[in-house]
Amino acid sequence: MSDQKRVFSGAQPTGNMHLGNYLGAFRNWVKLQDDYECIYCVVDMHAITTWQDPATLTQQTREAAAAYIATGVDPEKSILFNQSRVPGHAELAWIFNCVARLGWLNRMTQFKDKVGKNREKASCGLYVYPNLMAADILLYKATHVPVGQDQKQHLELTRDIATKFNHDFKTEIFPIVEPVIMGEGAKVMSLRDGTKKMSKSDPSQYSRISLTDDADTIMAKIRKAKTDAETLPATAAGLEGRPEATNLVGIYAALTDATRNQVCVQFEGRGFGDFKKALTDVAVEKLAPITTEMARLMDDPAEIDRILVRGGERAQAIAEPILQEVKQVVGFI
Ligand code: AMP
Ligand code: TRP
Repeated sequence: MSDQKRVFSGAQPTGNMHLGNYLGAFRNWVKLQDDYECIYCVVDMHAITTWQDPATLTQQTREAAAAYIATGVDPEKSILFNQSRVPGHAELAWIFNCVARLGWLNRMTQFKDKVGKNREKASCGLYVYPNLMAADILLYKATHVPVGQDQKQHLELTRDIATKFNHDFKTEIFPIVEPVIMGEGAKVMSLRDGTKKMSKSDPSQYSRISLTDDADTIMAKIRKAKTDAETLPATAAGLEGRPEATNLVGIYAALTDATRNQVCVQFEGRGFGDFKKALTDVAVEKLAPITTEMARLMDDPAEIDRILVRGGERAQAIAEPILQEVKQVVGFI
């Protein structure tokens, strides 16, 4: 990445921030902020695509901001704000609703997974959600977007929207974004089922390690995590066809900045009883300071609100001239 690059990313304030968010997203956001201009957004407008109780949404927006800061996002260096503060997100999303094609949205697997058989009851917002995500990114002409594996398809759509907009309006206003998907933690799976991703919405608390879990809870969840009866293999190739083993080894690798293969070499021939103890130790070591810091920040909600207001002003200052440029291109007067 050169100095011309701008980083944008976001997460939904829908509660239950978990290890997958940390390993797939937040810790990579932190690594990027030393070298690039970074904008990190709590996407509250995305959250309301499914029902959110208003008071809970407010609380969870603060909690998401606290999670960003506790994992290392520096609100002085980077811009940290909540999406609904900057009206340009909604304005640009409308323009993109008119650029994106129905056929493109019909291919979005996250929408299909989320609605299942209840498609007719899903909100219209949930359907056009990827257009809003494209607007989030392109409102700042961001070029690099650090996310977990599950967001790859949405970023491809963002590229398609930018390309079509540029083509239709004979302009080069929008950059073609690059997904930044880093490390072994890009896809953390459920502790109960190694074929399903760890998610905020899984009804089982035992499926995920939350960023608010204390050491005893983390220990209990790892102890209960599903595994198989075999021992750890000598190399990562031996994890083939063992989704739960692959996941736990992947989590250990991500937490210790190692590869799955190195972890296999280290634990070759040991059983999961042993391995889970080692995994608990590293998980507690990495997560305890985050949990403590989140609790400290949540004790002073006014301070979080001040950070979000200030971040919103800085974001608005970047977004406003870009939005004016877009409106001119579209022909609005
Ligand atoms: P969300 O929780 O869906 O708002 O996601 C926020 C960020 O965390 C996005 O960059 C996701 O790609 C990432 N993320 C969510 N779940 C996982 C997971 N299980 N493994 C890795 N990254 C994840
Ligand atoms: N859709 C993302 C998720 O659910 C969150 C998101 C919204 C986002 N807008 C974004 C991520 C822009 C990166 C860039 O995880």
